[in-house]
Amino acid sequence: MARNPVGKLLLFGATGDLAQRMLLPSLYGLHADGLLPEGLTIIGAARSEHDDRSYREFARAALEKYLAKDRNDEGTIAAFLERLAYQPMDLSDEAAFGPLAEKVGDVTGGLAIFLSTAPSLFEPAIKGLASIGLTGETVRIGLEKPLGYDLESSREINEAVFAAFPEPRTFRIDHYLGKETVQNILALRFGNSFFEPIWNARGIASVQITISETVGLEERAGYYDGMGALRDMVQNHMLQLLALIAMEPPARFDGTSVRDEKAKLFHALRPIGADEVAHHTVVGQYVGGASDGKIVRSYVDELGQDSATETFVAIKAHVDNWRWQGVPFYLRTGKRMATRRSEIAIEFKPVPHSMFESRGGRLQPNMLVIRLQPEEYVQLLVMAKEPGLDRDGVRLREVPLNLSMDAEFAGSRRRIAYERLLLDLIEGDQTLFVRRDEVEAQWRWIDAIREGWAETRMKPKSYPTGTWGPSAAIALTERDGVTWHDE
Ligand code: BG6
Repeated sequence: MARNPVGKLLLFGATGDLAQRMLLPSLYGLHADGLLPEGLTIIGAARSEHDDRSYREFARAALEKYLAKDRNDEGTIAAFLERLAYQPMDLSDEAAFGPLAEKVGDVTGGLAIFLSTAPSLFEPAIKGLASIGLTGETVRIGLEKPLGYDLESSREINEAVFAAFPEPRTFRIDHYLGKETVQNILALRFGNSFFEPIWNARGIASVQITISETVGLEERAGYYDGMGALRDMVQNHMLQLLALIAMEPPARFDGTSVRDEKAKLFHALRPIGADEVAHHTVVGQYVGGASDGKIVRSYVDELGQDSATETFVAIKAHVDNWRWQGVPFYLRTGKRMATRRSEIAIEFKPVPHSMFESRGGRLQPNMLVIRLQPEEYVQLLVMAKEPGLDRDGVRLREVPLNLSMDAEFAGSRRRIAYERLLLDLIEGDQTLFVRRDEVEAQWRWIDAIREGWAETRMKPKSYPTGTWGPSAAIALTERDGVTWHDE
């Protein structure tokens, strides 16, 4: 991959929560390890009134709050802050772009823009950038979610962006793709020969993808209540995970091959519409309970008004192609659940005949568990014989073959997902960014589900905080003889 680093980075939303928690610490991490291009300047822009000096103090406070202790080095922080500049501006105000152009200055050495804003501001932002000539050949743009709230609005944003930035200069962010363990799915599938022959409907019985969270609204009520779990988590992160698990092997590890395969996979997702939603989806909303030993309010109490927004969703999905015919993909995600966990659990088909049966030996199907967070490991559950003389029959037990990433790679630094993505944006590698056809196919599938819910008037069922969601989610798999992997 030819690197084509830019000389400047323009960060919209530079005082927001994402910037404080993720972007500034990530840029600092890259700086500290000498990975940022020498001389790269970072221009922050947001509505808050700051000048360069006060923004540097703002950034220092964010770093002190969010940096890991072993990263906190005064000298390095001071040198990093030297890179920062700031321009106060309101994206909806056309007149604000003139002063921005002056601040950014010459971009012949390349400019990467990071745009994270409300969907309604994408268009004015792009128009404003075009009006000051910040959309030329040397400029690329990174777009943070939410990129719309349905197919139509996502198309509008994509059109507006496309009018100024052709696809090779557009970098749509899904931060899950920046996670080390998510990229490891590719290494596991395509760097080993033994999975591929059974990685299909002949070898695999079902796939489960879980992203459970213990947090609730986290001061994001306005955004979250308009979105719900389906659009906040399934449309992007969960479908991307599904694609990495289910896509055909890409010919090359580059943006074209990988994204071609993911897009094909999204097109093969079986639509779930009004006739199927009741049987194939479950929606929930949390009520009060206990989380981490604390009493927690219900969603509507936290929100302060009545709402039919789902904070939990479970889906039984299918991929209609040769490889996956008949294999259910169970997805579930929610807020205020029993524990924080992102995991993929793949259940293999049972052996065709058990010779142990007549001697009392019970077999369980093999399972591959890919834990993405909080721990990072890959576990293959295999059957083994319990030691003994077997006078009362053969005892077989499931035991894990463990690959702990934390232990195996203990010496290497665990990076924030945004470190990888910001560096790829700065250097111009699109492999881990989402292409327009992917996003639109993802929305098409999600919109059909939402329309199905509206048409059938499906409402969320309540579930107590600190649980695995409404009991209907358990029934969703159990009626197929599958149990959620909750250990
Ligand atoms: C974001 C969602 O995209 O992902 C949040 O908007 C969610 O609601 C977050 O909490 C989860 O990300 P992670 O990296 O903590 O699993």
